[in-house]
Amino acid sequence: VRIEDNDGQVEKGGHKHWMSKEIAEQPSVLADVLAHYLPGGQLTFPGDALDFTGIDRVVMVACGTGFYSCFVAKYWLETLARIPVEVDVASEFRYREPPLSERTLAIFVSQSGETADTLAAMRFAAGKCRIASVVNVAQSTIARESDLALPILAGREISVASTKAFTCQLMVLALMAIKAASDRGTLTQDALKGRIAALSSLPALVSQALAVGPQINDLAQELSEAHDILFLGRGAMYPLALEGALKLKELSYIHAEGYASGELKHGPIALIDSHVPVIVMAPSDALFDKTISNMQEVMARGGKVLLVTDAAGAEMAGHGCWGVIRMPEADPMFAPVLYAIPAQQIAYHTAIAKGTDVDQPRNLAKSVTVE
Ligand code: G6P
Repeated sequence: VRIEDNDGQVEKGGHKHWMSKEIAEQPSVLADVLAHYLPGGQLTFPGDALDFTGIDRVVMVACGTGFYSCFVAKYWLETLARIPVEVDVASEFRYREPPLSERTLAIFVSQSGETADTLAAMRFAAGKCRIASVVNVAQSTIARESDLALPILAGREISVASTKAFTCQLMVLALMAIKAASDRGTLTQDALKGRIAALSSLPALVSQALAVGPQINDLAQELSEAHDILFLGRGAMYPLALEGALKLKELSYIHAEGYASGELKHGPIALIDSHVPVIVMAPSDALFDKTISNMQEVMARGGKVLLVTDAAGAEMAGHGCWGVIRMPEADPMFAPVLYAIPAQQIAYHTAIAKGTDVDQPRNLAKSVTVE
């Protein structure tokens, strides 16, 4: 339950940390996003700036967690709307000065709307192409300076590590991908309806996913003793693996890396021994058998696998894993929204087991307004 008084002051509402409160709020804020962009089940985006018919390329720019939202959205926009998408971190984009045209839509994603690099990247793009922003703080500089600002409606996020803003960014970007598919005629009406129904079911599924907290808490002590942890994912779950690793390193100071599952054999497999937990985030989708063989490679080297999957995935691949966390069944396309929950909880409980400052990790700021 979100607790805000009339002055916009937020309270922890019985939670020990802001982060746990913000994790728990996700079913309700995701429902708010749906109510805003899908009133009465009808997709509604304001303004012509979001017309995808006249564009031939999307460029997405952000920092930190927002960058991973963009990276997930690349899979959605390319698969559903068949439009090429480039993603970039703002500090690279702004100095690389990439070519942009009137047929480019540039999307800047920022929770705070004040991140210096993202703002500078947006100012570079201004006047060269169409600009939209996806922001949490509606009055922020990035929101004010973009042609179209899409709110993510997450409410105030206080914990330095982003949780509900990430899933709300994903929800807005997923709805945008469906809008793009509709504008460009790349999906049938039935397929569009199916995807909208899949997104609409996410708040309830996220609510179910929150129930795995105690199970993750039981694994956290052992995770907190590791020096290195790998996260693996395929397709749209690859950027989620990157986000899971970011969250864990930010909060617990354990070295963590995310990899595309297929890249395991090109380097990270050299790290595997019984001391390196490998967290595999994989719904049982069309490529699941390939993920199973990646897991077998890990286990054959004594590595311990924590598999986060659905019931069918657990049935097919759970045997021999160090741990299996069961997620509800979801459209694999939008699984990153759902699997963000265990990724957040792994970071949260591991940090608590290590005794680090969950809400205010060392050396980090909520919003980086200087270079
Ligand atoms: C900081 C925060 C991150 C955030 C990033 C981008 O590094 O600690 O949580 O993802 O800035 O912030 P923004 O407000 O632009 O999304």
